[in-house]
Amino acid sequence: QRLEMALESIEKGGYPHFMLKEIFEQPRSILDSMRGRMIAESNHLMMGGIREFENKFVNADRILIVACGTSWHAGLVAEYLIEDLARIPVEVEYASEFRYRNPIISERDIVVAISQSGETADTLAALELAKSKGATIFGICNVVGSSIARATDAGAYTHAGPEIGVASTKAFTAQVTVLSLIAMIIGSKRGTLETTKLHQLMVELESIPAKVEKALELNDQIIKISEQYKDATNFLYLGRGYNFPVALEGALKLKEISYIHAEGYPAAEMKHGPIALIDEQMPVVVIATKDSSYEKIVSNIQEVKARKGKIIAVVTEGDTTIPAMADHVIEIPETSEHLVPLLSVIPLQLLSYHIAVMRGCNVDQPRNLAKSVTVE
Ligand code: AGP
Repeated sequence: QRLEMALESIEKGGYPHFMLKEIFEQPRSILDSMRGRMIAESNHLMMGGIREFENKFVNADRILIVACGTSWHAGLVAEYLIEDLARIPVEVEYASEFRYRNPIISERDIVVAISQSGETADTLAALELAKSKGATIFGICNVVGSSIARATDAGAYTHAGPEIGVASTKAFTAQVTVLSLIAMIIGSKRGTLETTKLHQLMVELESIPAKVEKALELNDQIIKISEQYKDATNFLYLGRGYNFPVALEGALKLKEISYIHAEGYPAAEMKHGPIALIDEQMPVVVIATKDSSYEKIVSNIQEVKARKGKIIAVVTEGDTTIPAMADHVIEIPETSEHLVPLLSVIPLQLLSYHIAVMRGCNVDQPRNLAKSVTVE
């Protein structure tokens, strides 16, 4: 027993929990997920798994993404990326719904399964269904040799390293990194992403690990914010565009490890219902980085403030408008809006972690949850 405890503490590398260690590993795991696949300086952009099926990707009628939980959120980010950069229609499906819905799938469709464990029962079954209908199936998995990785025609591994904490953190950012590379590759092959824009994105993606490092310096500030809100009973997370999936992911992280009820919403949907929940007790996390929906989200913040909600805003460094309205401002480095989820998710992971620890929760193994869901 004592030996086991000693081993575990070595594995945690000095961190009190695997989750915190994995959050702090992200500069490395993002870099590892792009290593060898992209070098901006020489315009090198290549992924083995894609090269084999390049024509299929370039000529696909549609890309269907199947996944569950956090991996499904990464799929939503990919929908924005692929539709914008490669101009191929994308649908993102909960694997559990897709498999029982008699979905329409053709041989010109590519079905992409995203899974950290590679063992999620619903995702595997969805993939097998798509395969039986003749679609090309592609996997994005973290665990090498896992069932999903073995079932696919081709794929790309995320090189996040083992993720032990039940709450997925570094696997999510690794998935988004790999999906960004895929969108860039297909976009450039299809001619929908012009060379200068592609190059800019490559340079920007290369700078992400250092910017994640910078975002991790927010840890102390986030501990202070967590102290103030650790006893809240509800949380709302709002985002638009690329930050909408991040809002969903922030809410999922908080509920699964702290057991606080949290909901993520596209910010504009607030007025179609959730706005009724807002009063002075309601913390609202708004991801409001400088991007194409910035002005719109500023008005959403005003709507929350008018109802006395407490605003915790994640903004781009140097923003001067939102600090005048928000109760708390968390500044992250500037980046392209295509890549912003890789940065904006970091403070949300830290917020859920610290709140859960302060509430005395078992962050690495939350109640009722398993790391891989191998039953439907
Ligand atoms: C995320 O924090 C969850 N624990 C969970 O939603 C997870 O992402 C989901 O079960 C999918 O797992 P997978 O990526 O291994 O398929």
